Amino acid sequence: MNRENIRYVLVWSGWLRLCHWVIAFGVLFQIFSAWAADHDFVDPAFWQDWHIIVGQVVFVALIVRILLLFTAGSSHWRSLIPKKTQFDGILKMIKFYFSLARSPLPNWYAHNPFWQPIYIIFLFVLLGCAISGFFNESTYLVAGFPMDSIHAVLAGFILIFTIGHIATAFLHDLKGKGAFISAIINGYRYFHVSNEVNPRPDIEVNDSDVIVPIKKIRKADR
Ligand code: HEM
Repeated sequence: MNRENIRYVLVWSGWLRLCHWVIAFGVLFQIFSAWAADHDFVDPAFWQDWHIIVGQVVFVALIVRILLLFTAGSSHWRSLIPKKTQFDGILKMIKFYFSLARSPLPNWYAHNPFWQPIYIIFLFVLLGCAISGFFNESTYLVAGFPMDSIHAVLAGFILIFTIGHIATAFLHDLKGKGAFISAIINGYRYFHVSNEVNPRPDIEVNDSDVIVPIKKIRKADR
C-alpha cells in the first residue's frame, strides 16, 4: 500500500523572507506613491518624498538579496537557473496555466520552475529601476535613453510582474498542497511524501536541489 506522509521542511531562510517582504511591501508602496505623486487631489510632493525614501529601503533590501545569491541554500543563484530536471516542471506549469488551473500543479522544492528564471531577471529589473530612480532628475543618457524614461519603462515591467506574481502565488496556494504563501512567511513548506523508495539514491538532496525524495505530489495521489 502506498501510504502518504507529510514532511515539514525549511525551504526559505530568514534573510530571504525578510528581503522578500521588504521588497514586496516596498514595491506595492512604490506603485501607489508613484500614482499619488501624479495626482493633484493629494499632496504630490508628500508622496514624491516618500517614494524616494521607500525606494532607498527597497534598494538596500535588493543589495542584501543579491548578496544572498552567493550563499548556500534556496537563496543561491544556482537555484534560480533552470536545470534539465526541471524542464518537465516548466512544461507542466504552462499546461496548468493554459488549462486555467485544471491540470495538476507539478511538484517543486523552493522556487516555482516556471517563475525561477523570471525571478532572477526581475531582481535586476528592480535594481535598474531603483538606480534609474536615483538619477531621475539628471540629464544622463543610457544607450541614448534619459533616466526618467528608463525608470518609467522598468516600472511598467515591475507592475506587470507584480500583478502576475501575486495572482499566480494565490492560485498555486489555492490549487496546491504545499502552503506556498505560508512558506514565504514562516519558511516551511509541506511535502507529501509517498513511502516509495527514492528512485535516485545516488543523488544527495540538498537545500538548493529541486529533486526531493518524493515520488509524486499531486492532488490525484490522495
Ligand atoms: C501579497 C503579495 C505577495 C505574495 C503572497 C507573494 C508570495 C510569494 C511566494 C509564495 C513566493 C515563493 C516562490 C515560488 O513558489 O515560486 C514568492 C517569491 C518571490 N516573490 Fe513574492 N509575493 C508577494 C508579493 C511580491 C511582490 C510585490 C514582489 C516584487 C515586486 C515579489 C517578489 C518575489 C520574488 C523576487 C520572489 C523570489 C524569491 C527570491 O528568490 O528572492 N513578491 N513570493
